[in-house]
Amino acid sequence: MDAPRPRLPPGRHGVAGHRLTVDGVRAVGDSGVAAEGSGVGWHDRGMTELVGLDDVRAARELLAGVTRTTPLEPSRPLSAALGGPTWLKCENVQRAGSYKVRGAYVRISRLSAAERERGVVAASAGNHAQGVALAAGLVGTHATVFMPVNAPLPKVAATKGYGAQVELAGNTVDESLVAAHTYAERTGAVLIHPFDHPDVIAGQGTVALEILEQCPEVKTIITGVGGGGLISGMAVAAKALRPDVRIIGVQAAGAAAFPPSLVAGEPVRLPVFSTIADGIAVGRPGEITFNHVRKLVDEIVTVSEEDISRALLMLLERGKQVVEPAGAVGVAALLAGVVEVETPVVAVLSGGNIDPLLMLRVIEHGLAAAGRYLRVTVRCSDRPGQLASLLSQIAEHRANVVDVEHQRANPHLSLGEVEVALSVETRGVEHSDTLISALRASGYQVVFAAEA
Ligand SMILES: Cc1ncc(COP(=O)(O)O)c(C=O)c1O
Repeated sequence: MDAPRPRLPPGRHGVAGHRLTVDGVRAVGDSGVAAEGSGVGWHDRGMTELVGLDDVRAARELLAGVTRTTPLEPSRPLSAALGGPTWLKCENVQRAGSYKVRGAYVRISRLSAAERERGVVAASAGNHAQGVALAAGLVGTHATVFMPVNAPLPKVAATKGYGAQVELAGNTVDESLVAAHTYAERTGAVLIHPFDHPDVIAGQGTVALEILEQCPEVKTIITGVGGGGLISGMAVAAKALRPDVRIIGVQAAGAAAFPPSLVAGEPVRLPVFSTIADGIAVGRPGEITFNHVRKLVDEIVTVSEEDISRALLMLLERGKQVVEPAGAVGVAALLAGVVEVETPVVAVLSGGNIDPLLMLRVIEHGLAAAGRYLRVTVRCSDRPGQLASLLSQIAEHRANVVDVEHQRANPHLSLGEVEVALSVETRGVEHSDTLISALRASGYQVVFAAEA
């Protein structure tokens, strides 16, 4: 085995709040279904063996001239918050907008001529779809992609744009995967699994090879986890070359299948799951990825939807980075302080494919979560100029009015009274409190105020 086990700090095993330190010394399980043929003899190597550093290095050779070596950018706000150098690995600017093309290309380029002839099929909420569509086009085979019926429109359009045939089936990626399996059985097309295949894992692991070259002094790598392909490959490469680097995975709390699976010692299916981070909304870890995660990953933590919104907003505002929710969970965990890290830290921005409408909602949500979006309703006398003076008072406090509603016909109001409902952008909770106090001091009756 190429990759040594991680060293775990004493007394940090097991579940602690929303943090799970992965037990790296448990025996290897033998559960699981075999992955599709990979062309590199994985059936022969058995399900309990891990992908090795040589596999990741071979994947990198295949990807030369195909994928971008994405930039590693410093993050000032995160470095300040964590008290040491913090970097962002920008896979959001990878070809097709996420790291996914790495694994997809490695897998598809190893298919035999006969398999290429039959074409490939995949299931995905978007990023794997685009990765497979792009990779299939580059290799010269045909791709059919099953996507959930509610998949973001830009991702559907982009997948079609890369030349794939898109079929909408199921409400979740898991359901789309069932449809893709059925299609593969019926047509003979080769199923390109989004995460649970050694070639895919090896391809994703190339992200870590780049990180180790770009930041040789790195102490912690933190990345999002859905089915576990990205973190598995990265952990293989990082632990083989630098066993002291801590590998931390982050899941959305509403779709976190790894923590209960690690406790159970086998992949567990979540009965329900939901998160704005559609890229990592996966209900069950893979068999192969589960094996890698429990042996090589140091810790899995979860973040809330608010944490993700705040991270997206920070990345956009301070980092000038367009990142999708699944791509921002590593940064979300750092910002929310749900994980202790040793710097230098590298957080992977794993994807940038965000629907502009979702971006709009997330920005509003992120502003509210950061206490920068205030809804306030005040009562005042119905005299000419009252509204103007209310607005100018808000302007004096350098708050920005986003929306205003002026009501006279409310039965709770006495004659000669009006109610004004305002949505105001502020600089944060303190600024909102100051503004409300100032309005009260000026004689306005504040009947409602909430950061929302
Ligand atoms: C942007 C983004 N980040 C992270 C992941 C997690 O990937 P994995 O299933 O390999 O854990 C995905 C999966 O599609 C993704 O699209």
